[in-house]
Amino acid sequence: MKHSKDLTIRKCYKNQIIILQNISIKTYYDTFRSFTSEETMKTYLEEAYDIKKLSKEIMAKGSFFYFLYKGSEIIGYIKLNKKPFRSDINDEESLEIERIYIQKEHQGNGYGKYLINHSIKIATRLKKKYIWLGVWERNSKALVFYKKMGFEEFGKYPFRMGDEVQTDLLMNRSVYASPSVGSSASGNA
Ligand SMILES: CC(C)(COP(=O)(O)OP(=O)(O)OC[C@H]1O[C@@H](n2cnc3c(N)ncnc32)[C@H](O)[C@@H]1OP(=O)(O)O)[C@@H](O)C(=O)NCCC(=O)NCCS
Repeated sequence: MKHSKDLTIRKCYKNQIIILQNISIKTYYDTFRSFTSEETMKTYLEEAYDIKKLSKEIMAKGSFFYFLYKGSEIIGYIKLNKKPFRSDINDEESLEIERIYIQKEHQGNGYGKYLINHSIKIATRLKKKYIWLGVWERNSKALVFYKKMGFEEFGKYPFRMGDEVQTDLLMNRSVYASPSVGSSASGNA
């Protein structure tokens, strides 16, 4: 990866909530705008990234937000859950990646992989056996990325988007999986 020396991963704290809200809205919008109407998107963003809701999430025991910095610029973020919140998966041995986003202009440079490596490192430290996530079945770019990172599909999960019910594919990856994507990231869970 180019310029990996410039990269740092740091926990996001409550006093950074506005920064978190801004990057969450921008990256979600950029990723999914073409899939839905402007109105549906606006309603979703207002609810999903409401400041009070995000504050609760950031304070929740067992959840961690991390920012990825390139120099002093925040170019992405990740949300990890020690205990799954949104599905019937309730396995103490797993770590959930609930959100992973790299700013549009920085995608394709190995930064997503860097965040996955960080997650694997944290999962290992927490003595978890595998990492799992849900990805919208129509988000084909993310699906290709996850497969490349060693994730495999193991189920499906419905979710509501506007008036429609959509499907998330559930994917997991053992922390011991081969091929390993290596680990060079740092940070504390
Ligand atoms: C998905 C995402 C996190 C991946 O991060 P990224 O920095 O763009 O991906 P990377 O550059 O780290 O790619 C890692 C590997 O996956 C491959 N890859 C990534 N996206 C790919 C794509 N669309 N098609 C083919 N290969 C892809 C890369 O070629 C690279 O392979 P390599 O290790 O052999 O070089 C990022 O693109 C993103 O934020 N997308 C929008 C938000 C999103 O969809 N998040 C997931 C919601 S579930």
